[in-house]
Amino acid sequence: MSRHPRRLLASAIVLAIATAAAANEPPARPWMDAALSPDARATLVVRAMTQDEKFQWLTTQYGASADGKPAPACAMGSAACAPALARLGLPALQETDAGLGVARPLNAHSEDVATALPSGLATAASWDPAVAEAGGAMIGREAHRKGFNVLLAGGVNLLRDPRNGRNFEYAGEDPLLAGTMAGHAVRGIQSQHVVSTLKHYALNDLETGRNTLSSKIDPVAARESDLRAFEIALGIGAPGSVMCSYNRINGTYACEHDWLLNQVLKRDWGFKGYVMSDWGGVHSAAKAALAGLDQQSAGESFDPQVFFGQPLREAVAKGEVPQARLDDMVHRILRSLFAVGAIDHPAAPAPIDYAADAKVAQRAAEAGAVLLRNEGGLLPLASTLKSVAVIGAHADKGVLAGGGSSAVTAPGGNPVPGLAPTAWPGPVKYHPSAPLAAIARRVGGKASYASGEDIAAAAKLAAASEVAVVFVQQWAAESFDRPHMALDGNQDALVAAVAKANPRTVVVLENNGPVAMPWLAQAGAVLEAWYPGNAGGEAIARLLFGEVDPSGRLPLSWSRDEAQLPRPTIAGAGLDAIGLPPQGKPADTIDYDIEGADVGYRWFQRRGIQPLFPFGYGLGYTTFGYRALAAEADAAGTVTATFEIANTGKRAGADVPQLYVQFPGDAAARLVGWQKVSLRPGETKRISVTLPAVRFARYDGKAHGWRVAGGGYRLLLGHSSAQIDGRAEVRLPAVFPAGMQR
Ligand code: BGC
Repeated sequence: MSRHPRRLLASAIVLAIATAAAANEPPARPWMDAALSPDARATLVVRAMTQDEKFQWLTTQYGASADGKPAPACAMGSAACAPALARLGLPALQETDAGLGVARPLNAHSEDVATALPSGLATAASWDPAVAEAGGAMIGREAHRKGFNVLLAGGVNLLRDPRNGRNFEYAGEDPLLAGTMAGHAVRGIQSQHVVSTLKHYALNDLETGRNTLSSKIDPVAARESDLRAFEIALGIGAPGSVMCSYNRINGTYACEHDWLLNQVLKRDWGFKGYVMSDWGGVHSAAKAALAGLDQQSAGESFDPQVFFGQPLREAVAKGEVPQARLDDMVHRILRSLFAVGAIDHPAAPAPIDYAADAKVAQRAAEAGAVLLRNEGGLLPLASTLKSVAVIGAHADKGVLAGGGSSAVTAPGGNPVPGLAPTAWPGPVKYHPSAPLAAIARRVGGKASYASGEDIAAAAKLAAASEVAVVFVQQWAAESFDRPHMALDGNQDALVAAVAKANPRTVVVLENNGPVAMPWLAQAGAVLEAWYPGNAGGEAIARLLFGEVDPSGRLPLSWSRDEAQLPRPTIAGAGLDAIGLPPQGKPADTIDYDIEGADVGYRWFQRRGIQPLFPFGYGLGYTTFGYRALAAEADAAGTVTATFEIANTGKRAGADVPQLYVQFPGDAAARLVGWQKVSLRPGETKRISVTLPAVRFARYDGKAHGWRVAGGGYRLLLGHSSAQIDGRAEVRLPAVFPAGMQR
């Protein structure tokens, strides 16, 4: 499967370079005055720019040579670049993927390494905005020190299906949780003078047929689900850029969707930054520019034409696209660069402390791992164990990562090279943090490994060991969805055989998201480690041995099987290269009106069906109790919820008490707030959580805004969306909250 299906169609349009401008005297550059606002500075630049200079930044170019075309002069082996405008004192635009770290596979000289965060789902599962922000700051700092000023990071597509190949890049199914975590990641990135790119806007919730698929959804349902996640992330992170997605929404391509870009994003949400296209997401010049697209990404390699080159010039010359709109496009790019400090603090090569950055990734992996099962207190393991069997998933070498444009090569390289697919959306990558070594270090070397290929040998080793830790894995990647939830190969049989041989079996999952677990009842313990990032082996061992208490909570509903999902099958899902041949043709349209805004737990609750594990669920090595929930609203509708939380167990630990609202007459609840709390054994804390009125608002399609209906609401305090441990009534005034700040 080629990443550049349309590259051969690309026209040979060559951009005219700013020859006339070069002859001009250098301007005085009043825009370099950092005391001016980003908008004032952008206005000054636009005024000084020639038309040719403007056009140089309305398109970026692929950052490497491809299909026999030489790399552009600005190329740094990354996703895209646009040349410096030296006359104006402006650096080149240097863009690189993505949300889990700097991914630069196109670097011809070396495959550049960078620190790999765990999955976005792991970060979301921490329910700790500080973890997201620290991760963002770390990858932003690395990007800046590698010379990049735009990071294509900030994935916030909602998890509507566990089989979506990119779930690991995103932040789960709930708009408030996902938007909050993505917003903080963006904030962290931009604190390092790097523009962050919220993506993929919008409703690009499956990969199958993504370049043409039309997401059918009622506009109000969209506002209350996927768009709400974007709106919240924008309010928190103020990203400089938003990437419009490949797919269509109700029949219109996202990158030429006036309602999506002009009306919702720019008018209703007041987005001041620029919209860049996804690579291959542009289908027109004037239509896209007028709908709100500001920059075409790598069009010479991915789109049928460089629409924002000659065709847009002609459209402007004919008056079809006003010059003012063209200036607005450039203004938006410039003001975002000024706003994050990318012009005042230009990105430039500088040393990176990979050891310190690995700790950031490790802390995220530890905070986001979710303990799903722990029978009879099998975990935490004791360091006095005499023998541990470590089985499967190349746990002797490293931990798995997801694939596609976001795949980072961690320091030390890929310890398991050559697995299919070796080409796009591969290569399959592991990070060199071996769980086997980390476990062996904790038991004085008494850990033995079996690959799991020979099930009988693995079972024999398990039977001869005090404890077995079996690793199972599921590789997923951009560009395809998995056709079902089953683990590949012999893994289910392996777990069943190992658990039968030794009931003290711990299963560790390294996966994209929910998988079928037919052996669940036989497993002593199950730890969801996601793709745990480049210190994953160490993080897993620390969790297993109780050096850190598991405190992650699921940012998704774990469906029992595909039949529980709104759409049990995905036509055309699969990837031949990994032995999952696609069945049927990808659909033209996907009907999201089936669940509408009731994504995830709201779908399960509305239908009265029990998932295998509910949204918000997760165990620890201690237990928590809640009491005395009370709630009060002020005149603006801001609710203050108070309650007590007690650590009722014998170990220190962290918990995530969650607050949900039950709208009158609604079978489903909505998350309105939470807090991550650490408590010593026996400790009790009084918690107060502020819930802005907008969290209680529904989108009013007639009034075109969020509206809180006045009246009585039921507030629920839960250990998860399904385990409620406190109820309170609160009366809210009727209000129209102005902004979606949090
Ligand atoms: C992906 C984007 C990515 C871009 C640049 C596209 O295929 O959808 O997420 O940022 O490529 O590599």
